Amino acid sequence: MIVLGIETSCDETAVSICKNGLILSNTVSSQLIHNSYGGVVPEIASREHEKLLNIIVDKSLSDAKINVADIDAIAVTQGPGLAGTLLTGISFAKGLAVGLNVSLIPVNHLEAHIFANFLADPNLRYPFVCLLVSGGHTQLWHIKNIESYVLLGETRDDAAGEAFDKGARILGLGYPGGPAIEKEAIGGNPKAVHFPRGLMGSSSLEFSYSGLKTSLLYFMDDFKNNSSISKKDVAASYQQAIVDSLVEKMDRAVRYTKSKTCVIAGGVAANKTLRLCLRKRLSNSSIIFPELSFCTDNGAMVSFLGELKLNAGHASNIEFGVQPNLKMVAP
Ligand code: KG4
Ligand code: ZN
Repeated sequence: MIVLGIETSCDETAVSICKNGLILSNTVSSQLIHNSYGGVVPEIASREHEKLLNIIVDKSLSDAKINVADIDAIAVTQGPGLAGTLLTGISFAKGLAVGLNVSLIPVNHLEAHIFANFLADPNLRYPFVCLLVSGGHTQLWHIKNIESYVLLGETRDDAAGEAFDKGARILGLGYPGGPAIEKEAIGGNPKAVHFPRGLMGSSSLEFSYSGLKTSLLYFMDDFKNNSSISKKDVAASYQQAIVDSLVEKMDRAVRYTKSKTCVIAGGVAANKTLRLCLRKRLSNSSIIFPELSFCTDNGAMVSFLGELKLNAGHASNIEFGVQPNLKMVAP
């Protein structure tokens, strides 16, 4: 089966072709226009998707060396995400599916991030623990099987990616904040400043980052007068505070579920310090990281999960709408 996947939940216009579980193309256009605003402007993001979708679909088809008539099904992100950007992708996907007379399948963006780990390791077996860390979510999942998921814990306030983005803004490093802080932190001393790690004392599997962000804000108020610590040191210390809490909770989740395998998903999974620290702490577990292009938003995870769902017996569906707050399990 050949599935075309479309992802427009935020500021990446992403399309991919998956054929029998293999990714033939993975084409992404990141909307750099938002950098000058210091964050994603939803209205601009929707208009950019509108302009780019045709072009990116054509590029993905030619990268995969197939014709549009070869497509058997289309998968598209239904949510969570920005209502307007999701609507652009869904409307496009519906039009194409009707025009080509092929199946259409809505996909949950978070579930797709998690399943990108099967692209990293096709031998990945259930059950496993997943740390899902993106711009809008920080969650720990016990993945027992396809569509059998237990939420172990999540953030009480900001997501880890949000903490990177807000921290970068405070430090004047630009957007997106994760890669910007990671770059600035190279060569910095992660022990130079002790930033708070939220909810570390409790045995809970929840996260909190709002105190960390406030702490950085106050620290930077006095920073001008303190030349013994460089901005690199501050970036490294801030990054380490986020990483430490993620590593601690992942370790707890692995012990709690007695899991042998753990995986990581979402944009923050691209962070090298996080990868290094997780490997060190969970040296007795098998730990899987998707390759960088499958961590941040991409079409491959959508086409791949769409094909899995169709193979699992999900019927084609054209009657669905946008779900900006779509959950992985019903509340
Ligand atoms: O999964 P994603 O691409 O989009 C959402 O679904 O939100 O994640 C985006 C988030 C942003 O907050 C971005 O700053 C963060 O992932 N991110 C990183 C890195 N690359 C992207 N955070 C830390 N280190 C990175 N290298
Ligand atoms: Zn995402």
